[in-house]
Amino acid sequence: MPAFPYSVSHEVPLFLAPMAGVSESPFRRLCRRFGADVVVTEFLSAEGIRRENEATLSKLRFGPDERPIGVQIFGGEPGPMGEAAALVTDVFQPEFIDINFGCPVKKVVRRNGGSGCLKDLGLVQEVIKAVVRSTHLPVTCKIRSGWNEEMRDPVTIGLRCQDAGVGAIALHPRTRTQMYSGAARWEEIAKLVEALDIPVIGNGDIKTAEDAYRMHRETGCAGVMIARGSFGQPWIFDQTRALLAGKPLPPPPPVAIRFDTALQHARMVQEYEIDPVGAALEFRKHLGWYVKGLPGSAELRKRLHQVNSFDEVEGIFSDYLAMGTHGDLPDDEHQLDVELLEAGHA
Ligand SMILES: Cc1cc2nc3c(=O)[nH]c(=O)nc-3n(C[C@H](O)[C@H](O)[C@H](O)COP(=O)(O)O)c2cc1C
Repeated sequence: MPAFPYSVSHEVPLFLAPMAGVSESPFRRLCRRFGADVVVTEFLSAEGIRRENEATLSKLRFGPDERPIGVQIFGGEPGPMGEAAALVTDVFQPEFIDINFGCPVKKVVRRNGGSGCLKDLGLVQEVIKAVVRSTHLPVTCKIRSGWNEEMRDPVTIGLRCQDAGVGAIALHPRTRTQMYSGAARWEEIAKLVEALDIPVIGNGDIKTAEDAYRMHRETGCAGVMIARGSFGQPWIFDQTRALLAGKPLPPPPPVAIRFDTALQHARMVQEYEIDPVGAALEFRKHLGWYVKGLPGSAELRKRLHQVNSFDEVEGIFSDYLAMGTHGDLPDDEHQLDVELLEAGHA
């Protein structure tokens, strides 16, 4: 098995995927506590970083308990990508820098950022080389399988990235045109593993710990990256670790512990965010995910989606527990959250 370019605590590390608006510092810390071995920031614009845009730089803050952490940057121009990588290296010193070649959002791909770069593999290589030249840290990247069906060729893309100097690569095996439709083609992860000398991290459609275990078994990927499957269930990492260690699947926590976790998460957000009202509004989506699948969750969700402060949340949870109607959760309660994707996220 090829070695990761940064140190990891398990032979098969579990990654919390980069996710705009979700994999922020508090959620990354929470997932690390629940067994994620490596976390990655949401994608940050190279332009924003090199211009020292306040909002962008504030998203670069992370704590020591998040390490090992990668900072993900995007942009379609080698020069600014190099400058951004140099600044991140000097000021924030993460374990690695990850380049986003996967984001399908229009305003990003229009300027050749994200998966927009995949139309021109020469440009992909120039971007990687510029970043590698500008930092002493390992450089990794995250790709999709291609721009569209005609250009679908994850192995060629992966080989070009490897030649240009990345030390590991994560594949989300869909094309840009697919956005999130269809199924992620895990067999493409297996092909990439076979073709490359660097570690390949598998990603896509992991909804449960069993899925994560199966992806590793079926593809031989060096690491497993979970995105939407972590929503409202950060314990998916511990569950996956148990399966990889040959142990039985730990059951999901009971409702009261689930609520405690949500409150713990909320407190971490409160400590981290500067604007308490904005933070509470942003946190509503997490609350919705934590209660998904509970008996009577539609009503509960409705109340939680109206909170304007974190103080209200505890009361809503207590009311629900006092009703005593909750049972244990069905195993299949966590479906992929399509709503978010329709809202235009990567
Ligand atoms: C809300 C949201 C935001 C995302 N933001 C990013 C991002 O900033 N960078 C990135 O490389 N991928 C991003 N992605 C893509 C995920 O990292 C992942 O590749 C994709 O969701 C497939 O994995 P999954 O099936 O486990 O969700 C995002 C996905 C979602 C749902």
